[in-house]
Amino acid sequence: MPELKRGEFVGSLDCGTTSTRFIVFDKHAEIVAQHQIEFPQYYPEPGWHEHDATEIQESCDACISEACKRLEEGGWSKDSIRVIGITNQRETTVVWSRKTGKPLCRAIVWDDARTKNQVVHYEQQLKNHGIKLESGVKKGDEGVKALRELTGLPLSTYFSAIKLRWMYEHHEAVKKAYEEDDLLFGTVESWLAYNLLGGVEKGIHITEVTNASRTLFMDIRTLQWSQQLLDFFGFPKKSMLPRIVSSSEVVGDIAYGPLKGVPLGGLVGDQQGALVGNKCLKQGEAKCTYGTGAFLLFCTGENIVESEHGLLSTVAYQAGPDAKPAYALEGSIAVAGSAVKWLRDSMYMISSAAEVNTLASQVPNTGGVYFVTAFSGLLAPYWDPGATGLLIGITSYTTPCHIARATIEANAFQTRAVIESMKLDSKTDLKHLKVDGGMTNGDVCMEILADVGGFRVIRPEMRESTALGSALLAGSAIRFCGWDITKPETLAEVNTRGNTEFEPKLAEAEREKSWAGWQKAVERAKGWEE
Ligand code: G3P
Repeated sequence: MPELKRGEFVGSLDCGTTSTRFIVFDKHAEIVAQHQIEFPQYYPEPGWHEHDATEIQESCDACISEACKRLEEGGWSKDSIRVIGITNQRETTVVWSRKTGKPLCRAIVWDDARTKNQVVHYEQQLKNHGIKLESGVKKGDEGVKALRELTGLPLSTYFSAIKLRWMYEHHEAVKKAYEEDDLLFGTVESWLAYNLLGGVEKGIHITEVTNASRTLFMDIRTLQWSQQLLDFFGFPKKSMLPRIVSSSEVVGDIAYGPLKGVPLGGLVGDQQGALVGNKCLKQGEAKCTYGTGAFLLFCTGENIVESEHGLLSTVAYQAGPDAKPAYALEGSIAVAGSAVKWLRDSMYMISSAAEVNTLASQVPNTGGVYFVTAFSGLLAPYWDPGATGLLIGITSYTTPCHIARATIEANAFQTRAVIESMKLDSKTDLKHLKVDGGMTNGDVCMEILADVGGFRVIRPEMRESTALGSALLAGSAIRFCGWDITKPETLAEVNTRGNTEFEPKLAEAEREKSWAGWQKAVERAKGWEE
């Protein structure tokens, strides 16, 4: 075998909702090697969604091994990988034992809606008893406001504290572990870092700040766990909590496998990763990623903008342990690509995800059909856990082509709804939207988005933005090739490929008519399940 070349690469482990990938980038963000594996999804009851954390870890190990093999087949030594980063599905809640390092139950996934009753309970709690803060007890509307100010988040099934509460109340093993200080709680990056950095032997229990900002346990200003929030959710002991680290710092070396000894230099939630990967690092820059769900993030720089129109305030990234955090306003849409997956896997209407474009392109419009894809309630900007999926406007004229088109339109309408809120909250207009993620591969999807939204859609050629974001943060931690996330000019040579732009073509009157129809359909879908 000829001698392997030595290059300068960064690896990114991208663990999304349905699959894991390990991508190796060079200094220009060109992909040198990669591997992807889908892992099992568990839906034990309507509205429930679980993962087996061990299976996630195994899929990550396999992706790393296979991508390293491919790198070597391409003639490069795996020692060329100087640092790696992790980016992950957020909010998904993992619990494991300090003693054994093994999960105590299945992870509850971010879009799982089983905790509706817990949400109602904590709403009542806020109303009747309030939340105890340093400034005194805040009750009723004041309590709701105080919780939002502290965390940037509304009470919702979406966030980790509520999911952890459910686990505590329904799994004896979780309750026992908490009482005995054996419980370790974390989001997916926390679980992966724990394992990659040596598991039970080393016991490195960390979480990254953008992920921590989605738990409802962290004070969004101090970037520390809040005792008041822990008390409010009934977890006064801090022993279960990981140490919060920034998005860009070396937290340890990989303990095993082909990357043994390589530093882990960056962790970041996947949507914030995509923001960084799109180089939306400054105030006013926005992107929307269409994966399992769709997530529009608008960078607000060092300011926390408190939404009055149904958006979240979240940490966008923290460029190092001593760096000031950048914040973002976020519109989270629970169902995007997962609706296409549903057409494929449950309705058997299409045999591949791409086919949704083919079907949709065969009709000029949906023929009056609207599809509110509220499979697990509605998130931003509606926040209705009782909403369910609704297909309305069906007549004997309706064909699968209309339904395919309505599925794509649902995405576009929800994006518009989020943008309308963002305009009101940020007091700026959005003339164009940068997009990425699997669903953006289809031109028809992009044309519909531009038409329904009434703005220009910009699709970069290099769309692995999520993985690239974590690579940039990890690379920045070791100043790989001079990268420094706080100095965008150092990233000028990274991803210089072009964009494709889609302009709105639909007449304004038609756009507004269909928008009115969507709003009517949403009202009907809301509150279906009390
Ligand atoms: O908040 C959930 C989000 O992080 C999931 O992302 O790309 O797996 O749909 P994705």
